[in-house]
Amino acid sequence: MINDGPLRVSSGVHWVGVNDTETKLFEGLWEIPEGVSYNSYLVIGSEKSALIDSVSKLKEREHLDKIGSLINPSKIDYIILNHMEPDHTSTVPKILEFSSNAKVVLSPIALNIFKNFYRLESETVVVKGDDVKIDLGGKTLRFIQSPWLHWPDTMCTYLVEEKMLFSCDAFGSFKRLPNGSVMDSDIENIDQYMDGASRKYFAGVFSGQREWVLKAVKKIEDLDIEIRVLAPSHGPVYSVNVKEIIIRWLSWSRPNYVKKVVVPFGSMYGMTAKFVEPIIEGIEEAGGKAITFNLSEKPPIDVLAEMLDAPALLIGTPTYEREIFPKVKQLLNLLELKKLSDRSVGVFGSFGWSGEAPRKLAEQLAVLGFRLVGNPLAVIGRPTQEDLKKAKELAKTIAETAFLERGLQ
Ligand code: FEO
Repeated sequence: MINDGPLRVSSGVHWVGVNDTETKLFEGLWEIPEGVSYNSYLVIGSEKSALIDSVSKLKEREHLDKIGSLINPSKIDYIILNHMEPDHTSTVPKILEFSSNAKVVLSPIALNIFKNFYRLESETVVVKGDDVKIDLGGKTLRFIQSPWLHWPDTMCTYLVEEKMLFSCDAFGSFKRLPNGSVMDSDIENIDQYMDGASRKYFAGVFSGQREWVLKAVKKIEDLDIEIRVLAPSHGPVYSVNVKEIIIRWLSWSRPNYVKKVVVPFGSMYGMTAKFVEPIIEGIEEAGGKAITFNLSEKPPIDVLAEMLDAPALLIGTPTYEREIFPKVKQLLNLLELKKLSDRSVGVFGSFGWSGEAPRKLAEQLAVLGFRLVGNPLAVIGRPTQEDLKKAKELAKTIAETAFLERGLQ
């Protein structure tokens, strides 16, 4: 079966989304070698119909064809925009050309963004609070304000009769969907998928919004909303693994630390990289696992994904033009944006003709809120056996300190 048409989610609910394997950088930032899906859902009641979210303009034609194969677009009564990011809204102006009677349903903050993004004079329904409902005829949509999942304008849409939550970006994943299905039950090795594609998506897109994930899940519980089906705006629709994906997102948001130390490093000519082997030995002697990343070979999102449950970090930087190596600086910037600083940290690096980078890196990490363990290890040229021994000792101390701090014995 090929993925060339709409897909049934349940009676009257169809996925009319698309897979994108052309975009190289999601949000212009995150590498997506396995693609991504933009999920859009058409809900058809006995009297009215609603489109929940749209897709990237890149896939406009395919999206419109899918909608058109199910319904005359002029019969769409509502276009519900759970938030305004263009990967879910940039096709809306074109849809409105065909569905000119449709009302755009969105939150108050989204209304401003909608006007600024698209300069359209559309009829709108601005949803305030958590009790607004729209009856499509046997299918009732309720809207739950869920700010920062993923932008401040975000709301979720709940299909009452089916207990189906359209959760916007929350609980989403990278990776295109398999041909012919959108359901989690059709994903081969769903645990691996959640621990890989969804975790990486969370790390890149959501790790700065961790507190809002916790708040939203609590709100859903407090509102006594049961979720039988979870339909995010990227990745599979969960009907079998609803609890499993929610538990994972909660564990990444809290987080639940394990005995590991992440070791991202830059290395121009292999001198700083020579520290890595003794660092691994030191971490393992402390009973932990070392996860290493050469930042010239691996994207920073991989580091962020591993950091979600790591209590410590050991960062290597050569000195580049009297500064921190740019690849390390990029990581530093992301750690700040994603507020991933509540951790123990150490610094190491080799230099050729000046050696400011490890000290500067340590200072900047401390400003971000990292707890510096030991002195930055800055070595001129090729590390000696004595230098490598110091690196091992530093790694062991950092691991022991962090594990003790987090009660990981
Ligand atoms: Fe998938 Fe925040 O958009």
